[in-house]
Amino acid sequence: MEGLKIPFLFSSLFSILVVSNAVDTITKTHSTAGSNTIVSSGGSFEMGFFSLGNSQNTYLGIWYKKISPKTVVWVANREIPLIDSWGVLTIINPGIIALVNSTGSVIWSPNVTGSTQDPVAQLMESGNLVVKDANDTSEHFLWQSFDYPCNTLLPGMKLGKSFVMGLERHLSSWKSSDDPAPGEFTNWCDPQGYPQNILSRGSVDLFRTGPWNVVSGFVLSHDGVVEHWTWIDRTQEWILYLTGPTDNCDKYKLCGPNGSCNVRNLPSCGCLSKFVPRNQTEWGNRDWSNGCVRRTTLDCKSGDGFLKYSQYKMPDTRSSWFDKNMTLRECEMSCLENCSCMAYTNLDIRGGGNGCLLWFGELIDMREYSEDGPDIYIRMASSELVQQVGLNGKKRKIVPVTLAILIALLLLVLHSMFCCNGYMSPKYAIDGLFSVKSDVFSIGVLVLEIVSGKKNRGFYHPGHSLNLLGHAWRLYEEGKSLELIDETLWDLRYQTEMLRSIHVGLLCVQESLEDRPSMSSIVLMLGNEATLPRAKQPGFFTARNVLQPSSSSSKEATTSANEITITLSSAR
Ligand SMILES: *[C@@H]1O[C@H](CO)[C@@H](O)[C@H](O)[C@H]1NC(C)=O
Ligand SMILES: *[C@@H]1O[C@H](CO)[C@@H](O)[C@H](O)[C@H]1NC(C)=O
Ligand SMILES: *[C@@H]1O[C@H](CO)[C@@H](O)[C@H](O)[C@H]1NC(C)=O
Ligand SMILES: *[C@@H]1O[C@H](CO)[C@@H](O)[C@H](O)[C@H]1NC(C)=O
Ligand SMILES: *[C@@H]1O[C@H](CO)[C@@H](O)[C@H](O)[C@H]1NC(C)=O
Ligand SMILES: *[C@@H]1O[C@H](CO)[C@@H](O)[C@H](O)[C@H]1NC(C)=O
Ligand SMILES: *[C@@H]1O[C@H](CO)[C@@H](O)[C@H](O)[C@H]1NC(C)=O
Repeated sequence: MEGLKIPFLFSSLFSILVVSNAVDTITKTHSTAGSNTIVSSGGSFEMGFFSLGNSQNTYLGIWYKKISPKTVVWVANREIPLIDSWGVLTIINPGIIALVNSTGSVIWSPNVTGSTQDPVAQLMESGNLVVKDANDTSEHFLWQSFDYPCNTLLPGMKLGKSFVMGLERHLSSWKSSDDPAPGEFTNWCDPQGYPQNILSRGSVDLFRTGPWNVVSGFVLSHDGVVEHWTWIDRTQEWILYLTGPTDNCDKYKLCGPNGSCNVRNLPSCGCLSKFVPRNQTEWGNRDWSNGCVRRTTLDCKSGDGFLKYSQYKMPDTRSSWFDKNMTLRECEMSCLENCSCMAYTNLDIRGGGNGCLLWFGELIDMREYSEDGPDIYIRMASSELVQQVGLNGKKRKIVPVTLAILIALLLLVLHSMFCCNGYMSPKYAIDGLFSVKSDVFSIGVLVLEIVSGKKNRGFYHPGHSLNLLGHAWRLYEEGKSLELIDETLWDLRYQTEMLRSIHVGLLCVQESLEDRPSMSSIVLMLGNEATLPRAKQPGFFTARNVLQPSSSSSKEATTSANEITITLSSAR
């Protein structure tokens, strides 16, 4: 393409240019040259020729029409300026969009995919310059400038690989403030594991940020600073929202593997809690590159657990795996099941948290934040796990849930043996079976209340109008029973027991009497490994008709559930 000569009739070209104003498209009959520009339909962006500083070098570029000083967001001929300030963007035969210099050489031309007899180039309101067939009104572009970012990421642009086009889209800094040729800094999206953006100088990684949600703009300055701009609708302007790297702790991998950086400490590098320097001598000499190791080695076979680290920058995700649908507890389980999984976290901390991110191998490039950081759960040997959980300001020890339930059952059985006959309403006493089975129902309620730490009465969930039984049933049906378990009882080591308890609880509250187990089988069910029948829909599961038939005993059960919990916790 380069060196192709095209004869020009400058005078006739000029006349075409003069009549055209406020158009957003270059066509066969409309080019742009000199001080003529094209403007996007809504007037946000303008494309034309510009020079920088005192230089004569002229470039074809796109800038914000309404922002001054002129802020260039994209440059076509970054590396090959027009040296005598004259050029034209036009369509040459056989249907090629080209930037042509004054001696008729094509110095830049977009590589269109597919061919067309009649291409046009249109500057869209988003700032995207697109090449398409003149007759094509769809969004089918033969080429678009958004696939070839310079130093600015506009809303709607994506970084990373486009597998269809075989492109790797990244930001590259300008060489200097008056030379838009690619400089030494790049900002690119690393798709290994969970995608993250990395600022590099040549092949050296400097700074890592999470994946960007592109409703804002990013500019990579010529001196290697990523500026995050955000659009303010009310004032109709961009404001500088964040820049990075900002401090010492932003330096990639500064504190080595398993290390953590905190700008308020001196020196800033430390080991994560329960980790120690790999080499104390080196660490003492401020050589942090070898990082830290766990002070107690993991023992995957005999059981590890996880310790919560709050407000940390997520470690490098290059050796991670993620699933957007998993809950935090499912996430914990899948991490525990794989001995090489070192940590996990919620992918999206909005709305209570969802999604799962797992790390395999080293934890690299972590830093402490004073606020606004996610929680990360790091794998620890079980001896490092402290079983203290804050509850109402008090500390209490976790009782394995089955034990609590068995004790509750015992109390209930005793209760029904010694005091219930006289206590129950005559209506229930008529039918012996019904009375026993309604106690089974109460046990079910009690079990679910203990496991969930919530009362059935007055149970409220923002997502539906079910009571606790309905809620438990719903989670069970979705295969998410683990979500029911009370935070203070939550302990992965007892998850099978907990799931079993919920299952048994649901069997006890079945709608039909025949589906409820007998008293004696409840104890067996909780204890042994026999497969339980699938629970069907429970009785009385909406908030309105809560437990009408067994109201007396269930009321009793609700209170005792609470008492039992309290008794057990203070007994330890
Ligand atoms: C136009 O471009 C060609 C090829 O790059 C170059 O040889 C020629 O000097 C340029 N003409 C001017 C006036 O810059
Ligand atoms: C067009 O493709 C060629 C070969 O792949 C490449 O050298 C050239 O830089 C591309 N031009 C543009 C404007 O992307
Ligand atoms: C574009 O449409 C016009 C009118 O519909 C038609 O005459 C022309 O041949 C079409 N051009 C191409 C390249 O398909
Ligand atoms: C710790 O590092 C120092 C200096 O690199 C080295 O001489 C020493 O052998 C290392 N110690 C251990 C235990 O690896
Ligand atoms: C980080 O900690 C883990 C667990 O102790 C250890 O296996 C790994 O080797 C550590 N990384 C380095 C570089 O010391
Ligand atoms: C995630 O959940 C959504 C909606 O619940 C579903 O459409 C999608 O298929 C799920 N994705 C995976 C990978 O399971
Ligand atoms: C653990 O996870 C890694 C990384 O996803 C995978 O390669 C490995 O096969 C898994 N191991 C087991 C036992 O599932």
